[in-house]
Amino acid sequence: MRPAKVTAEVIRAMKGRGEKIAALTAYDFPMTRLLDEAGIPFILVGDSLGMVVLGFPDTTHVTVPDMEHHLRAVARAKPRALVVADLPFRSYENAPAAVENARRLVTAGAEAVKAEGGREIIEQVRAIVSAGIPFCGHLGMLPQHVLEEGGYRVKGRRESEHQALLADADALVNAGAFAVVLELVTSPVAREISQRIPIPTIGIGSGPDCDGQILVTPDLLGMLPWFSLKHVKPKLNAAEQMRAVITEWKKSF
Ligand code: KIV
Repeated sequence: MRPAKVTAEVIRAMKGRGEKIAALTAYDFPMTRLLDEAGIPFILVGDSLGMVVLGFPDTTHVTVPDMEHHLRAVARAKPRALVVADLPFRSYENAPAAVENARRLVTAGAEAVKAEGGREIIEQVRAIVSAGIPFCGHLGMLPQHVLEEGGYRVKGRRESEHQALLADADALVNAGAFAVVLELVTSPVAREISQRIPIPTIGIGSGPDCDGQILVTPDLLGMLPWFSLKHVKPKLNAAEQMRAVITEWKKSF
């Protein structure tokens, strides 16, 4: 018998049972099938799509139609996993826009949405949750702010950042988020947030003490040999293996 569908509530309850949450990104049908067959309960159609699939320099170029196109492919795999989708840059500038775009993502196959920020987007989060769409927060280093911040920097080292992260995490909980991604947050601050809030924290480059971990799947599999990241060492050299097979095949006739 196929195990039951994972919902946002199932992810939330995993924290209570002390079960670690493994989350990975997917942007198409085959990767979704592979992740689902490996038992990954949380699949994110991230706006990392812009960089790892579409060739943009950062996530600010991704549009709602881009997300819809890839979500439909992911949804066709009918995964048991919860499918979470990123609301792209500038698609949630106010509550009506946030709800309208979240509904578009749900129509394309998302079962929950994620957006970057804390107290500054709390009206949008409340509106999305009131519309019946499960919401996942994203705090710490916010990739959609890269142009404004001039790069990607670890968050939580300064006391002002530490306090802001705690207040943002509390605000997301009160607004009804079911989980929160912590990206490049210092390990002690990520641990403190994880112990403080009742919903799961899912870390990326934020140390071992979050309730779950998320990675961009092509980074984990070594599919992007042109870039190197401090927080992830590829567990496979897929790019090299693909190059070798392609070169061998080319010579075979
Ligand atoms: O877009 C994405 O893939 C993400 C993860 C890095 C968490 O937001």
